[in-house]
Formats: sequence, C-alpha cells, structure tokens
Amino acid sequence: MNDTLKNKTALVTGANSGMGMATVRALSDMGARVIMLCRSEKRGKEALERLLSEDTSRTLELILCDLGDYDSIRNFANIVRSNYDHIDIIVNNAGFISLDRQETKEGLERQFGINHIGHFLLTMSLLDLMGEGGRIVNVSSGAHKVGKIHFDDINLHKGFNVITAYSQSKLANVLFTRELARRVKDRGITVNCCHPGAVATNIGIDRETGFGKTITGLLKPFFQTPEQGARTAIFLASDSSVSDITGEYFYKCKIAKSSKQSKDPQLAERFFEFSKELVGIS
Ligand SMILES: NC(=O)c1ccc[n+]([C@@H]2O[C@H](COP(=O)([O-])OP(=O)(O)OC[C@H]3O[C@@H](n4cnc5c(N)ncnc54)[C@H](OP(=O)(O)O)[C@@H]3O)[C@@H](O)[C@H]2O)c1
Repeated sequence: MNDTLKNKTALVTGANSGMGMATVRALSDMGARVIMLCRSEKRGKEALERLLSEDTSRTLELILCDLGDYDSIRNFANIVRSNYDHIDIIVNNAGFISLDRQETKEGLERQFGINHIGHFLLTMSLLDLMGEGGRIVNVSSGAHKVGKIHFDDINLHKGFNVITAYSQSKLANVLFTRELARRVKDRGITVNCCHPGAVATNIGIDRETGFGKTITGLLKPFFQTPEQGARTAIFLASDSSVSDITGEYFYKCKIAKSSKQSKDPQLAERFFEFSKELVGIS
C-alpha cells in the first residue's frame, strides 16, 4: 500500500473480472477509495469479498449497474451523486464481445451499446463531479484499427459479424476519448485510452453457459495475466508523468499509433453529437 492516490475517489467499470478487478486492486493499493461498477450482484459481491479478504483496509463500494440499460446507468449515477461529492478517476473498462447479434434494453447492438454508449452515458452523467486533475481512462483495443462507424446502420442489422461489431465499438472508444479530451481540456480533466494487449480474462466467455472457457483456457499460456494487461490503464489513472497528456491512445504505457480514422477530428465531433442524440442529451 502507498499513498499516491490518498483521498482520491476512483470508479472502475466491470470491476469483478479480469482487468477491471486488477485495476481496482492496484488503485486501492495506492490509497484510492474505489467504486466498483458491476452488473451482477453475485459476481460483484464475490469480487468485493475477495479484494477485502486480501486487505481489510481497502475502501471499496460495490454499486450495481447494467451498462446496457439507460435507466440502470442513470440510477447508478444518482447513487454515486448522493454518496460522493467528487470523482477523481473514471476507468471505463467493462467490455463485451459476442459471436451472435444481441441487443441492449434500448435495442442497440450490444457490443456498441455496452462498450461505447453505456460508458458514454455514464461518463456524461458524472462529468460534473470531476474537476482539475481528474482523469478518464477508456479501455479500447487494437481491434479499433479495423473498425468503422456505421452511421447508417449503427446497430448492424445488415452485415453483423463479431469483428465488425467489436471493432466499431472499440473505434468508438478512441473517438470518444479524442473528442471528450478536447471538450474538457479547459477544466483540467484528462481523457486517454489504451490497448491492453492480448490478455487471459473472461472476455468472450458466456456467463450463463460457460461457452468459450475451453478456448480461453488453451490460450492462457500465450496471453498476459489480467495484472499485466491492466498496467497501462492503471498507469494512465495514476502516474504523475501523464498528468498533462490528454486525448491519446496508449499501449504498454507509451503513446502508440492509432488508426487514421480514430484521429479524424471531424469524425470524432460528428460521432460525439451522434452519441448524445442516442442517449437523449441535448
Ligand atoms: N482480454 C483481452 O485480450 C482484451 C484485449 C483488448 C481489449 N480488451 C478490453 O479490456 C476490457 C476489459 O475486459 P477483460 O478482458 O478484463 O474482460 P472480462 O474479464 O470479461 O471483464 C469484463 C467486465 O465487463 C463487465 N460487463 C460486461 N457487460 C456488462 C454490462 N452490461 N454492464 C456492466 N458491466 C458489464 C463484466 O461483468 P460480468 O463478469 O458480470 O459479465 C466484467 O466485469 C474490455 O473493454 C475489453 O474490450 C480486452
């Protein structure tokens, strides 16, 4: 335990599994109080108990939220607002990938709906609790490089496949990073994103059926651990060397090359306005 983040409040989404849980552990070990956003009460409580059993001095709060449901996100934001007067760090880490086409409660294609729109609404709902020195970290992926924003068919009713859908959602994470960074720069808030690399987590495993477990298990020896994969997000959330850097895409704790589209300011602005309309922000 050190006190780099003493008196800081951090929010981590997808906090019960993989890199999210590793991020909670690391931020809490630096002295932060951490709000754990989890969608399942059972998995959330298990993660909370495990983290507290490792170190009882941790200050953690579990708050449930389904990022595929606008009401749930608004309810989450209201609870946070009543329990905390400020937030210093948001790590938008939760992620979903699926071979078949699924939809969120509002009828959005589920990877786009959770990976981008859920986090967009969450962040915009809590932005006024952040101020000078605040940091937002969006966990994207190298998969954004093959992504395209399908403005005319954002929910991929035509031509859905897992690569098209996942890469669109991860390009969305980078575009959101760039445009939000520009919009909150004069408030002293930084916004960066990262690619964690290939990491052995529960991503792609169906939580109900366990489908995907065998493949993930076989790949485990070749992949990074969640702790290794979470390093860049943790670095962006806490390291003093990046306190003035904003709007960038990182890999292995260094600014990295992202796709041409992800650097297009007009596209980023158009997509931000498009996202606002989808969640009903005027
Ligand atoms: N693993 C990799 O190789 C890799 C590579 C590049 C990028 N990434 C990105 O890294 C991030 C972390 O993923 P991970 O690999 O650590 O995966 P993971 O172990 O599957 O964790 C994903 C987390 O997101 C949560 N989540 C999923 N749907 C949600 C929803 N509707 N509402 C709230 N939370 C939800 C999950 O909750 P449940 O456990 O309850 O489902 C879980 O806590 C993701 O954004 C992913 O796209 C991963």
